[in-house]
Order: sequence, then C-alpha cells, then structure tokens
Amino acid sequence: MPDRQGKFDMQGKTVVVTGANSGIGFETAATLAGMGARVVVTARNADKGREAAAAIGARAGRDGAAQLVVFDLGDLASVRRGADEILDQVPRLDVLVNNAGVVLTERTETVDGYEATFAVNHLGPFLLTNLLLDRLRASTPARVVTVASAAHGAARRGMRFDDLQSEHHYRGMGVYGRSKLANILFTLELARRLEGTGVTANSLHPGTVRTGYGADGDARGFLAFGIKVARPFFLSPAKGARTSVFLASSPEVAGVSGQYFVKCRPTQPRRWARDTEAARRLWQVSEQLTGLAAGRAA
Ligand SMILES: NC(=O)c1ccc[n+]([C@@H]2O[C@H](COP(=O)([O-])OP(=O)(O)OC[C@H]3O[C@@H](n4cnc5c(N)ncnc54)[C@H](OP(=O)(O)O)[C@@H]3O)[C@@H](O)[C@H]2O)c1
Repeated sequence: MPDRQGKFDMQGKTVVVTGANSGIGFETAATLAGMGARVVVTARNADKGREAAAAIGARAGRDGAAQLVVFDLGDLASVRRGADEILDQVPRLDVLVNNAGVVLTERTETVDGYEATFAVNHLGPFLLTNLLLDRLRASTPARVVTVASAAHGAARRGMRFDDLQSEHHYRGMGVYGRSKLANILFTLELARRLEGTGVTANSLHPGTVRTGYGADGDARGFLAFGIKVARPFFLSPAKGARTSVFLASSPEVAGVSGQYFVKCRPTQPRRWARDTEAARRLWQVSEQLTGLAAGRAA
C-alpha cells in the first residue's frame, strides 16, 4: 500500500487551490508545488496572494511554480472573471481544490444579496467548479477536491431549503455547519454527474487546524474565545493539509469518487450528508442562485 502521507510525482500537472494565501490552502499549494505541480494560487486579496505565490515558489525552488489569480468567492461576477483568467492561463487543469472558506459570527450579505457564509463556502465554489469543468474533463484523469468539515454533523435538520439565506434565524456555527454540509452534498451530486468521465470528486474534513479560521474578527464572543483557548491543541497547517494533498495526488484514490475523507481514509459522513435527493435539490437551487445557464452545468 502506498504511503498515505507520501510524495507523489505531480510534474506536468496543474492544480488550482482556492484560498491558498493562508492556512490549509497555503500548505496544500506549497506541498503540491514541492511535488512538481504548477499551482494556481487563488486569493481575494492581491497583496496576500502575491506574497503567498512567491513563498510557494521559493519553497518549491522553482520560478513560476505558483501563479496568482485574484477573485472573491463571495462575488459571483468576480468568480466568473477569476474562472476566465484561470482558463486563459492554464491549457490543462488536473486538480481543483475548493479550499477557501469562512465562519462568520454575524449575518452579512454579499454584493449579490446572499448570506455570506453560504455564498463564499458553497455558491462561489459551485460556480467556479462548473465554469472550470470542461477544462477538467479535457484533462482527464482529473480531480475535484472540496474541503468540507466535521461541522456538517451539527446540521441535523439538513439544508433547510426554506431558509437557505438564514434570514429567519442566524447562528454562526449552525450556518457554517450547513455550508459544510452543502460542500459534501455538492460533491455527492457532482460525482454522480461526472460518472464515467474520468473526473472524480471527493470531499474531506482536514481535522481541527491552527489557521486564520475564525480570526480577524470573523468570529466573536463565545466562538472566538473557544477557538483561542483550544488553539494550542489544534493540528499544524501542514498536518491539516494532508488529506487535501492525498486526494489531489495519491494514485491510491485514482478513480475513487463521491466519498468523504477524514485522515486520508474514506469515512461515512452523517446521514443527512448522504441524502441524494437533497444533493440534487441543492444543485438545482444553486444553479438558479448562481445564474448558471443549464447548458454550462455538469
Ligand atoms: N481550521 C480548521 O480547523 C478547519 C476545520 C474544518 C474545516 N476547515 C476548512 O478548511 C478550509 C480552509 O480554512 P483554514 O482553516 O485554512 O482557514 P484560513 O487560514 O482562514 O483560510 C481561509 C482561506 O479562504 C480565503 N477566503 C475567505 N473568504 C474568501 C472569499 N470571499 N473569496 C476568496 N477567498 C476567501 C481566505 O482569504 P483571506 O486570507 O483573504 O481571508 C483564506 O485564504 C475552509 O474551507 C474551512 O472551512 C478548517
């Protein structure tokens, strides 16, 4: 059996990692670049993105190992521009890692008028993946890896299709848990739609990782206090990136699709994250909310 934390040859492969300027995304991008991949770092902040791309290039010891595309996952027009720029820059795309995510204590809305956690964690990645799908299909075997979370376990009542924008009730961790449930359901339906195409889709929980997650005033009160107290016990970002790197690179999971991984192993997510009907419904609603024309979806 191959080493689950092993380094595989990624030379000649192109990987897009969203939110690669910090935390798990940075380590994922840097590790894959170190294996020889050409990495497209995406970030919403140009300065942070440039700094990260330079650090990843330096760590890989190769000029041009990482290039930057700047866009905001919480702004659908920006996601479309970002996808166009990626398509202009890379003739092939072997792996897309949907990594970026936020947890927000207070309800805010994006420029599109959507609740921000749901928009950044699900709608943005949903649109981006669909816009990059033809390029992934043309580069088979290809992979879509989506960073979800064990926090989906708290979303016992499922997606709450009657209040997807959390207008009636907002509790930061609850909304975050549902957005991570959306990541798993999205992966389930994406894998179903991609069956037989040579493009796989898997999601994962990275562990509890010492990153910028919940920092910068995004999380306040009890949540911020809890994160601060528990922080020393969290995994390092390098360890937190292992399952993302494994799913992006290991031959052991070539052809494996529609699964949820924890510690590099396929794991059953909670019952409400295995609901294929909810996965189909979420896909349809997301197509409408993102304005994705039916012809361009998977
Ligand atoms: N840390 C954990 O314990 C843990 C546990 C389970 C799951 N996760 C998941 O792991 C993933 C990575 O998080 P992390 O822990 O590494 O946190 P992080 O250090 O805060 O990284 C999150 C990344 O997402 C980016 N991002 C946030 N909003 C964005 C937007 N609107 N558009 C584009 N990029 C945006 C951030 O950019 P900025 O630097 O500009 O904010 C940052 O690069 C997330 O999906 C998170 O839900 C983390």
